[in-house]
Amino acid sequence: MSATETENIKPTGELALQTLAMPKDTNANGDIFGGWLVSQMDLAAGIASKKVTRGRSATVAIKGINFLSPVKVGATVSCFTTVVCIGRTSVQIQVDVWTSIFDIDDRSKKVADGLFVFVAIDDNGKPRKIPQQAAE
Ligand SMILES: CC(C)(COP(=O)(O)OP(=O)(O)OC[C@H]1O[C@@H](n2cnc3c(N)ncnc32)[C@H](O)[C@@H]1OP(=O)(O)O)[C@@H](O)C(=O)NCCC(=O)NCCS
Repeated sequence: MSATETENIKPTGELALQTLAMPKDTNANGDIFGGWLVSQMDLAAGIASKKVTRGRSATVAIKGINFLSPVKVGATVSCFTTVVCIGRTSVQIQVDVWTSIFDIDDRSKKVADGLFVFVAIDDNGKPRKIPQQAAE
């Protein structure tokens, strides 16, 4: 989906994380560095993962990240998560990132999305079964 196509739709999923894009996170173009955005997405997915795995979990894969529009300094960055699939030890979480520049107007724009896979781990860092109630 292109950035233009997202302009009239609203975010879906749960607001897992919200932050502000700061000047220290810019790339050579003066826009926000993609790695910073991925880091926020990973944190948001980690929060969503905790609710499902009820304990420690770790990112095992990040699939198909799309950067749809540059993120500007001063933008409010909101990460929305949707649990797509719960397996025996893993959970797949869709993360959609939307930005708003409230100094200008209240409209939001989807700027990135991606699929994050987390694995529930035990105290030894080995995969553990996700509790049954989370999978229901
Ligand atoms: C997460 C980790 C414990 C999984 O161990 P593993 O031996 O690969 O585990 P398994 O092969 O038994 O797979 C566990 C689950 O993950 C899924 N999985 C593993 N690799 C995957 C991948 N690349 N993509 C999607 N799912 C994957 C498996 O399908 C399985 O899911 P299920 O139990 O729901 O069916 C191990 O890979 C690890 O420690 N990785 C590093 C994690 C980390 O440090 N992340 C932060 C990065 S800095």
